[in-house]
Amino acid sequence: MKILLFGRGGQVGWELQRSLSVLGELVALDFDAAANPGQLCGDFANPEGLAATVRQIAPDLIVNAAAHTAVDKAESEPGFAHTLNASAPAVLAAEATRMGAWLLHYSTDYVFDGSGSRPWREDDATGPLSVYGRTKLEGEIAVAACPRHIILRTSWVYAARGGNFAKTMLRLAQERDSLSVINDQFGAPTSAELLADVSAHALRAACQQPQLAGIYHCVAGGETSWHAYAGYVLGQAQALGWKLKAGPAQVAPLPTSAYPTPARRPLNSRLDTRKLQSAFGLQLPHWQVHARRMLEEIAPGQHNANHTTALRT
Ligand SMILES: NC(=O)c1ccc[n+]([C@@H]2O[C@H](COP(=O)([O-])OP(=O)(O)OC[C@H]3O[C@@H](n4cnc5c(N)ncnc54)[C@H](OP(=O)(O)O)[C@@H]3O)[C@@H](O)[C@H]2O)c1
Repeated sequence: MKILLFGRGGQVGWELQRSLSVLGELVALDFDAAANPGQLCGDFANPEGLAATVRQIAPDLIVNAAAHTAVDKAESEPGFAHTLNASAPAVLAAEATRMGAWLLHYSTDYVFDGSGSRPWREDDATGPLSVYGRTKLEGEIAVAACPRHIILRTSWVYAARGGNFAKTMLRLAQERDSLSVINDQFGAPTSAELLADVSAHALRAACQQPQLAGIYHCVAGGETSWHAYAGYVLGQAQALGWKLKAGPAQVAPLPTSAYPTPARRPLNSRLDTRKLQSAFGLQLPHWQVHARRMLEEIAPGQHNANHTTALRT
């Protein structure tokens, strides 16, 4: 089995390098050809190059973790966001269709308008509020044209590696005496590790049962607000030895209306994951399980602790 991964350096792409490696021969690409084996093109701004890469590798599975994920920046460069989030996935879908390969792709809660409080189901009407959400929806539609597709919609992704909300809160809490964080947007922080593991399981199952092709919501269990999430991160961080100027009690709640951003965010980012859990026989752990693991992984002194253990064994 040959697997071609795009976006290997991102939060999810990095974890996919681990989880996909047991499924077969993995070719993992960066957007910079100079960093790739055989200088293969992995640049989503170069559709001809992408098609040539897929044809040269002739993979059984294509996994796309590359995207334009700078949500606010996308508002001022909609053409570029469209190229990366919609045109390039369309090229991958056409090539995958031509060679009968599977294509696994990631999408987002931002395809919804964030109304109500019920968790969104896969077949609910979409209504993106931002350029990012609109271009990701266009990407979904393009990928769904490939008969062997899996689209995982997720939300609030974080990882030990890469930039994300939890790490921003940790940095700010070391610099400032108090923070203000949005308390009227709700969702589930989801680890890149969880997404990568589910992706590998889903691909393996889909190879044996092609009728599993489709779109699925994939987020950790439970729900929270950004404000409560920040409080959790800072509380756990203190317990793990971080010296913070601001702890959970110094995080003030802020309504979205008091924090205008170029891109509008959905208030309700809850995603209903029952379809994924039942189709693939998987369980999605509560969001705090992996969040706590990530904090332990990046906690101060953790590197030395690991090193000492390694020396002892
Ligand atoms: N992050 C979230 O909260 C979130 C939420 C919902 C859905 N998702 C979706 O989940 C997927 C993975 O997200 P993530 O959090 O892992 O994002 P990420 O960390 O921003 O990774 C995106 C990857 O795309 C790469 N990339 C940027 N421009 C490229 C180009 N022109 N050609 C090829 N690759 C390029 C980036 O490279 P550089 O780092 O070198 O720029 C990076 O490796 C995406 O589809 C995203 O839309 C993410």
